[in-house]
Amino acid sequence: MAGKADKKGLKVHVIDHPLIQHKLTLMRMKETSSKDFRDLLEEIAMLMGYEVTRDFPLREIDIETPVAPCKSKIIAGKKVGLVPILRAGLGMLDGMLALIPAARVGHIGLYRDPETLKPVEYYCKLPPDVSERTLIVVDPMLATGGSASAALTLLKEHGARNLILMCLVSAPDGIKVVNKDHPDVPIYTAAVDDHLNEHGYIVPGLGDAGDRIFGTL
Ligand code: PRP
Ligand code: URA
Repeated sequence: MAGKADKKGLKVHVIDHPLIQHKLTLMRMKETSSKDFRDLLEEIAMLMGYEVTRDFPLREIDIETPVAPCKSKIIAGKKVGLVPILRAGLGMLDGMLALIPAARVGHIGLYRDPETLKPVEYYCKLPPDVSERTLIVVDPMLATGGSASAALTLLKEHGARNLILMCLVSAPDGIKVVNKDHPDVPIYTAAVDDHLNEHGYIVPGLGDAGDRIFGTL
């Protein structure tokens, strides 16, 4: 379910599509403006969403085209919910909604205490039927893994059983934490970076994603 472990023991799906890698490089550049950063994040989220949904099951239905009746495929699995982790996860929401416009959206507000690096919850509003949905949790950064793990725990406490985590840039530490705390949850990322610095920032990373999206640097 959550994929096979790589050479470093990390269970993660790395989406290495050239368009995603190119756009991620632009996002990493410190001179990239907030507007461009936001636009690129939305574009990448849509491209990643294409891969994240690749294994969604299909079923055949009978339809009629203007020319002939035929059998054709539609998505058969559970309904989808999107759950951005505030604030930075909001930057990935519209790209995903462009792909899955009927998805319901839940919000989880977490910020990382700058001293302890532990997540602090300040908001949670979810669709009522999370147990019947495949929930895709989106957050650009998986650093220590504290925020993602707490969000996944919270969703399970609300009945969610079918979860996917989608992050733009991940640190090995964060992947390990989520693999350990939530072995049932597949992680999709565009990059596994080298390490965390003493402030818990991903190196090389792209800085503070929320600040870069919203211009609050
Ligand atoms: C960032 C990011 C993740 C979290 C990752 O959010 O968007 O939610 O840090 O770090 P972790 O893996 O060590 O928990 P932040 O706390 O900066 O809040 P913001 O999105 O409101 O800026
Ligand atoms: N949160 C961010 O926004 N960036 C990091 O590198 C780590 C946590």
